Amino acid sequence: VPVTRRALLVGMGAGGLDQVTVEGVAGLRSCTAVVVPDKGEGADADTDDLVRLRAALLERHAPEAVLVTVPDPPRDRSPHTGTSYRDAVDAWHEARARAFRTAIEQAVPDGGTVGFLVWGDPAFYDSTIRVLDRILATGADLVYDVVPGVGAISVLAARHRVVLNTVGSSVTVTTGRRLLTDVAGGADNLVVMLDGGLTCAELDGAAWDIWWGADLGTPDEALVAGRLVDVLPEIEAARAAVRTARGWVMDTYLLRRVGRSSQNG
Ligand SMILES: C[S@@+](CC[C@H](N)C(=O)[O-])C[C@H]1O[C@@H](n2cnc3c(N)ncnc32)[C@H](O)[C@@H]1O
Repeated sequence: VPVTRRALLVGMGAGGLDQVTVEGVAGLRSCTAVVVPDKGEGADADTDDLVRLRAALLERHAPEAVLVTVPDPPRDRSPHTGTSYRDAVDAWHEARARAFRTAIEQAVPDGGTVGFLVWGDPAFYDSTIRVLDRILATGADLVYDVVPGVGAISVLAARHRVVLNTVGSSVTVTTGRRLLTDVAGGADNLVVMLDGGLTCAELDGAAWDIWWGADLGTPDEALVAGRLVDVLPEIEAARAAVRTARGWVMDTYLLRRVGRSSQNG
């Protein structure tokens, strides 16, 4: 009788090898194998580095676990909007689910545990949970659990020593793609991720304060804070410098409309 396999999705932190939690390390040590998607030849410097960081993290915290790289299905990155964007993402998730299922069945015996190192915290802009749900939907004999990690948002707030919400108020977590729409809809305290090109430059720089961070947790980490109009050139320069130093840049920032109480709480 086959015994169910178990998958563990471990938030690995957003750049530093010690941003994985003690619970995450214990989980990784219970894994026979850890699956890492590999973008293969032609991968950008960033994805290459992200694979290296995963290998280094395992080496440091769970050296017994075997690292299994799975060729990542190619992703259609042509410009899409609305439904066709979701269709493209959907097709990619489906292909990933098939590739992961095969890898799990090959790498882990019945009853074994397989790990996934998820960048930052699995709850923010990451598809691994959705992919695992798809694998389950294919009828795989598998259960899975998620261990939270320190995501880019938490590192950003910690480095700048800010509380993300103002007293008794809300914070909108959004993407570069949606920023202007969210601001037009009234959001005035936002955390922005997945912004390929500082969309905040399109806002009225005198009306916003920004707390910005790039490659947080890595030795090349960069931080800038201030009135948007004043610090935008500094952010642009820092962004370019980090990209040159590390080969990739990922940034996250908090934007708060001037006049919102900046009192933390
Ligand atoms: C696909 S999302 C993954 C987020 C991840 N699950 C997390 O919790 O940090 C990638 C985005 O996260 C942010 N990000 C991830 N790592 C970062 C880092 N080390 N420094 C700054 N931002 C980062 C950037 O906004 C990037 O575009």
